Amino acid sequence: MKKIAFILSLFMIIRTDFAQPQSLIQNIEGRKTISLNGDWHIIIDPYETGFFNYRLDEDPNGFFKNVKPKNKSDRVEYDFDQSEILKVPGDWNSQKEKLFLYEGTVWYKKSFDYNKKNKTRLYIYFGAVNYDALVYINGEKLGEHVGGFTPFNFEITDKVKEGENFIVVKVNNKRLRDGVPTVNTDWWNYGGITRDVNLIEVPETFIRDYFIQLAKGSKDNICGWLQLDGNSLSQNVNIKIPEAGIDEAVKTDKNGYTTFKIKSKLTLWSPENPKLYDIVINSSSDTVKDKISFRSIETKGSKIFLNGKEIFLRGISIHEEAPIRSGRAYSIEDAQMLLGWAKELGCNFVRLAHYPHNENMIRQAEQMGILVWSEIPVYWTILWDDEKVFANASNQLNENITRDKNRAPIILWSVGNETPRTDSRTKFMKKLADQAREMDSTRLITAATETHYINPNTIMIDDPLGKSLDVLGCNEYIGWYDGTPAKADTINWKTDYNKPLIFSEFGGGAKYGFHADTTTIWSEEFQANLYKHQINMIKKISFLQGMTPWILMDFRSPKRLLPGIQDYYNRKGLITNKGEMKMAFYVLQDYYNSLKK
Ligand code: GCU
Repeated sequence: MKKIAFILSLFMIIRTDFAQPQSLIQNIEGRKTISLNGDWHIIIDPYETGFFNYRLDEDPNGFFKNVKPKNKSDRVEYDFDQSEILKVPGDWNSQKEKLFLYEGTVWYKKSFDYNKKNKTRLYIYFGAVNYDALVYINGEKLGEHVGGFTPFNFEITDKVKEGENFIVVKVNNKRLRDGVPTVNTDWWNYGGITRDVNLIEVPETFIRDYFIQLAKGSKDNICGWLQLDGNSLSQNVNIKIPEAGIDEAVKTDKNGYTTFKIKSKLTLWSPENPKLYDIVINSSSDTVKDKISFRSIETKGSKIFLNGKEIFLRGISIHEEAPIRSGRAYSIEDAQMLLGWAKELGCNFVRLAHYPHNENMIRQAEQMGILVWSEIPVYWTILWDDEKVFANASNQLNENITRDKNRAPIILWSVGNETPRTDSRTKFMKKLADQAREMDSTRLITAATETHYINPNTIMIDDPLGKSLDVLGCNEYIGWYDGTPAKADTINWKTDYNKPLIFSEFGGGAKYGFHADTTTIWSEEFQANLYKHQINMIKKISFLQGMTPWILMDFRSPKRLLPGIQDYYNRKGLITNKGEMKMAFYVLQDYYNSLKK
């Protein structure tokens, strides 16, 4: 934990110009919340007129003041309440045609009434804002959050007023060379307040965070810790799992922290039986309820074991793209549709690429019995030697694990995707892998590593990053970027690592409804044939323990420009964004169903 505190302090030292969000509150679903979802007034501000004066100094009277003219000669050149509306949650690109390709600043404003309560603290919690968020309440800066896919919160107990208040958020989704991700991604740069916004009421001393899972490799030892936040930190706390006959008394130390180990007899969670337990944690001043499941995940040599039984991960990759309506997915219904298609495909596993998805995806996967690969957007060619970039990546990993560490279906934390094999990259990602392991000793660490040919028929997996991983991911595109689909019949795979391998990507594009012979690119027949050759090759790889072909559903990308075929869509989906299954969907479904027998 000390190392993490150092890394995060690095991030805070570098960004002292703004306060950083406070430590994340665990399990928003189990809290008293007031939703700020709905209509927010917005101002589209490409020149950041609301933030800088004409000398490019920060303007102390920026739009965040939300001032109104005091008299008829007062000059105020903006007015939120007369401005247009965006729905929150939701990206701006898919809500307004004029914002489809917009990259820059949009100001959001929301007024709300609040009745202050005794002995109650108040936080504002954002599910995610892409990419850079400056948050203000009643004209006063709360702080800044950087990173488009993880939650953050600010305490506003002493800043919220009785009666009317207003929140202003300056959102800038401009891609940055020193960003995480950087300027080059194969996905749409959806900007905005893309997930729920809630006020959270908690007691003066509350249970801010906790970790409750099975100890690594154990099927009956619950391990964990909990952290109180407030002014009376040393408390007796009860952890109850009634259905498992658990009622454990623990005591927090003067810092409000305690660890615990609880012997238990549990029904373990699995895809076949996604068993959840009701948990109640009572301190003398707070009660929080959660639904938690328990399972063990470990590797032995090149095999993966779930609850002590070898498992082959029948997966698919998924981007956080809303089916049918398009734009960023965020709702329970979006999650149920995407994961429902994965179940229909025969999956027991999904790779949530290339960044942490909204919490509904994880909670629905838990209920539907689907294992999860979770990933931070350390993608392609970020600036590996820049300390600020590392602090940003480390903070996003911290927020990802903090939010989801109690969700059993997540079995893999991935520290990145398809990054170049350089010493500085390997050092950067090893530090992230070490951080993930230090934060959570119960899960496996992975990444999509780089491979290379050692002769025309042999692909070697020996990426040095593999030394820091428990499971090797690798993307391969034989038949699409690499030769013809039939080339897969001639390829052998080799590795000196005695570790499980997951094909984290393979596939090819097809335009739904375009039919031709198997050699005609973009036809459904071409894509289906590619999958057939891939599956023949996969059957021969003894140390392959899973696969997440690229990708469940066609998704928007500014890099995909072929008119009439791509039109800003990456067409490697097995399903169109309208829910139409392509021929390759059934090729993979047949294979997965054959594995279930
Ligand atoms: C890469 C990358 C994906 C991308 C895919 C493609 O492997 O990881 O993000 O979309 O290839 O080219 O379609």
